[in-house]
Amino acid sequence: MTTPADRYAAFRDRQSDPELAAFRALYDFAFDGFQLAACGALGAGQGVLVAAPTGSGKTVVGEYAVHLALAQGRKCFYTTPIKALSNQKYADLVRRYDSRTVGLLTGDNAINGDAPVVVMTTEVLRNMLYTGSLALSGLGYVVLDEVHYLADRARGAVWEEVIIHLPESVRVVALSATVSNAEEFGEWLDQVRGGTAVIVDEHRPVPLWQHVLAGHRLYDLFTDDGSVTPGGQPPEPPERRHGSVNPELLRVAQRDTWIERKAPGRPARGARRPRRFPPAYRPDVISRLDNGGLLPAITFIFSRAGCDAAVAQCLDAGLRLTTPEEAEAIQRTAELRTADIPPEDLDVLGYGEWLDGLRRGIAAHHAGMLPAFKEVVEELFAAGLVRAASATETLALGINMPARTVVIEKLDKWNGETHANLTAGEYTQLTGRAGRRGIDVEGHAVVLWQPGMDPGAVAGLASTRTYPLNSSFRPSYNMAVNLTGWAGRARASALLESSFAQFQADRGVVGLTRQVRKNHQAMDELAKSMTCDQGDFTEYARIRRTLTEREGDLSRSRASSRRAEAARSLSQLRPGDIIRVPGGRRAGLAVVLQPGLHPGRAEGNGRGGRPGNGHKVPAGGGGPSFAPAEFSGPGPLVLTEGRQVKRLAVADFPVPAEVIDKIRIPGSFSPRSPQHRRDLATSMRNRLASSDADGGRSRRPTRAADWERNAPEMTGEISDLRRQLRRHPCHGCPDRENHARYAERYFRLARETEALERRVAGRSHVIARTFDRVCRVLERLGYLSGDTVTLDGRRLGRLYSELDLLAAECLRRGLWEGLTPAELAACVSALSFESRQADDGQPPRLPNGRVSPALSETLRTWSELDQLEKDNNLSFLREPDLGFAWAAYRWARGAKLEKVLAEAPTLTPGDFVRSVKQLIDLLDQIASATSATSAQPADPVQPADPADPAQPADPADPAQPADPADPMGSTDPGGPMSLAATARAAIDAMRRGVVAYSAVTD
Ligand SMILES: Nc1ncnc2c1ncn2[C@@H]1O[C@H](COP(=O)(O)OP(=O)(O)OP(=O)(O)O)[C@@H](O)[C@H]1O
Ligand SMILES: [Mg+2]
Repeated sequence: MTTPADRYAAFRDRQSDPELAAFRALYDFAFDGFQLAACGALGAGQGVLVAAPTGSGKTVVGEYAVHLALAQGRKCFYTTPIKALSNQKYADLVRRYDSRTVGLLTGDNAINGDAPVVVMTTEVLRNMLYTGSLALSGLGYVVLDEVHYLADRARGAVWEEVIIHLPESVRVVALSATVSNAEEFGEWLDQVRGGTAVIVDEHRPVPLWQHVLAGHRLYDLFTDDGSVTPGGQPPEPPERRHGSVNPELLRVAQRDTWIERKAPGRPARGARRPRRFPPAYRPDVISRLDNGGLLPAITFIFSRAGCDAAVAQCLDAGLRLTTPEEAEAIQRTAELRTADIPPEDLDVLGYGEWLDGLRRGIAAHHAGMLPAFKEVVEELFAAGLVRAASATETLALGINMPARTVVIEKLDKWNGETHANLTAGEYTQLTGRAGRRGIDVEGHAVVLWQPGMDPGAVAGLASTRTYPLNSSFRPSYNMAVNLTGWAGRARASALLESSFAQFQADRGVVGLTRQVRKNHQAMDELAKSMTCDQGDFTEYARIRRTLTEREGDLSRSRASSRRAEAARSLSQLRPGDIIRVPGGRRAGLAVVLQPGLHPGRAEGNGRGGRPGNGHKVPAGGGGPSFAPAEFSGPGPLVLTEGRQVKRLAVADFPVPAEVIDKIRIPGSFSPRSPQHRRDLATSMRNRLASSDADGGRSRRPTRAADWERNAPEMTGEISDLRRQLRRHPCHGCPDRENHARYAERYFRLARETEALERRVAGRSHVIARTFDRVCRVLERLGYLSGDTVTLDGRRLGRLYSELDLLAAECLRRGLWEGLTPAELAACVSALSFESRQADDGQPPRLPNGRVSPALSETLRTWSELDQLEKDNNLSFLREPDLGFAWAAYRWARGAKLEKVLAEAPTLTPGDFVRSVKQLIDLLDQIASATSATSAQPADPVQPADPADPAQPADPADPAQPADPADPMGSTDPGGPMSLAATARAAIDAMRRGVVAYSAVTD
């Protein structure tokens, strides 16, 4: 029932925005503020970014774009990251409009692709943009649903490519989960697409309550009930009210820690050991939730086997969540949706147990399951018939399967290498499924108690609600040829500079750039303060600064020359030389016992300096012989006037050592003997007393003036600068020193700023630089020639696989020519398949005949490319995986599902179907790449390439490599088939059954 106020508001709407009013009339609920704001912006001709929580109703905004396009006689493409979502959206839109108005393009499906509204996967749109598809004409709006996929490492680049390459006239509607940097993302969209309104709404339409289940009790995670607010404002929704952690829960944690510390091992005889809460028993958890009216629930268990085990446990425990009528309804749906699967396959697929669980309202949901089974679970869950689902976290991505309650078993998960803690972002994503709009008044998140759990940590996860959206964009080989073909190399590079990745990298230097800007401002201020009415003080300061620098250089050069001279003087000392130690603690006279500098050692203190100048230590003979250990160390060993034996260092000689006289050291002299030391010291004193200490034998120490003679240019420049300084008009200014202080600060800041600018430059253009390296590799292999994309390059442009370049190279070298369809499937699977598990070291099973040599060649090609990548500082191409070759071969040759699965024990039905589909995808790309490029006349710019399978190959042509191991040499008995035809035949063979196994998806 509408109130008069509602009716008046509707009237006003019709007046101000009739299109929006007409659109709103299609819904039986009133729009939220964020929906109205986003639709309003779209209607006003802007693009929009909407970031709002899961289940808040973002789709409405996408649907308004469809509505506007149709009203304006333009087209709208609605893209989603997942085929299943595209199918869902297609069905929704066909229901609203009709099947002539709406089309679907997902790679698996091509229905009415020329319709004004086409639902498609984002990849399909990207490919259309590169091929310049005619379908793009008249395009007015593009909806990018789940645009946060942009962060996906494998596929994220596609979203950026689409956003960058869409024609300017297209309005983009980007729908995203809540991310913490929505404004940043919006700013980028605004920069590349122009006029983009950013609409962020963090409010969850269905409030979320957080709990911890310990034993049989469900504790609230937070205590604040929000009923009293300080300012009398309405209470915050519960998900924002993170006052304090429930003290009862803290006591549970304390008790747990106490029991762990105080009661290890066995209890004393007769005593009862206090018990920690045991890990929750899954059937109990579900019963507890059922009793509390909290079903349907999804329990997130981070392993497929764990999900299956959870169902088995519930069944073993006799749990039943449905009425007999519901069980019948469930069975009918399950039978209907699996009707196309051959009965013998159903046995292999565990249909019986699956149905048993379903009938009781209990099911697993994970990627290891047959897609058809998974989809039935989704459908029944949405209908409220399946009431307890155990799922892996993949469910949180993209599939619309909201629940009343989400249970999280553990707060860490195995990520393939280690147990990693759940991040706040992941926690938000998982619990985001709780609370169905229009059905539940509130949603619930339940974390199961684990021994040692810290409630504070859970609270931390639960209150940090968003995570940042980070670009995972990088140029790929395929992108490089497509972009170059489309826009030329220079423009391509410039386009990449406008990626979100570069935008974020630039953001990373924003702090630095801001500092640079601030420094420049400060420098301007300083420049003002040092203004002098007598003349150009900056110039004066520069002269002064250069002078100081030169003087510093000169003094440094003097010091180092002096050090070098001191070292040289020391190296010239001989045993018996009487020297004056010029400074330091040992200043005074001394007699050299051992010069101490070892031959070949660096001069001076043995660190740095020039290598020894050939000076040799007298080995015995000429001087007293000491134990070798006493010779270690670089300085001379001397006897001081005070009769101490000391080793001097070069540092003791700021000026060169001065030899004043010489005495003979008795051969029997031992530094350890006090008597010998006393005698020698006396001889030294006597010697000096009897001679003129400053007589002609002493070497004059080198004075500074000598060094100035050694550096005439330097001193000349210095005098010149001094002269310039004196003559400068500012020299006579009474404020000179005051100005000079400012100038000093100015130059220091200038130096700092230059260093900052160098850092900024290092981080700039990272994407364009990677693109250059990618192009270098492509140029080297002949896919690009300057701005021209060669024939081989055009073929690469149609291969979108992660191993794009390897696939192109295998085609170019003809490695897969002459194979049968099943053999080709086996070989190509090495590029499309990637095992979930690490290599178990077992050699992969391969069919006899040509597959094995073709795969060896494929691997050899990969390692050549890998090396080329390394040389160019790139690492895009992972190693091919032979783990699916046997299954692909057998399946293509018609083996039964049961057999294929039995021969590949690590492969679940879900993995098998997905791997077959991925293989079909790549075979399809290969078929279209080879037929498209061979159908064209040879590229006039390119000389015919003998190894190019696109060129008609003459078997007698001597240019063809006559490698006996080359599978190309052998021809099929039925005559050679083109590679494209073989690929298509392989696809037909592989498709068998796969349609039935994935009921809704295909
Ligand atoms: N203003 C509204 N009032 C009531 N219900 C609404 C409103 N807007 C949308 N809904 C309903 O809320 C449900 C969830 O909407 P929707 O699928 O658009 O969410 P979403 O924001 O796209 O979530 P996700 O992030 O999971 O894709 C739908 O059933 C939709 O009909
Ligand atoms: Mg959505």
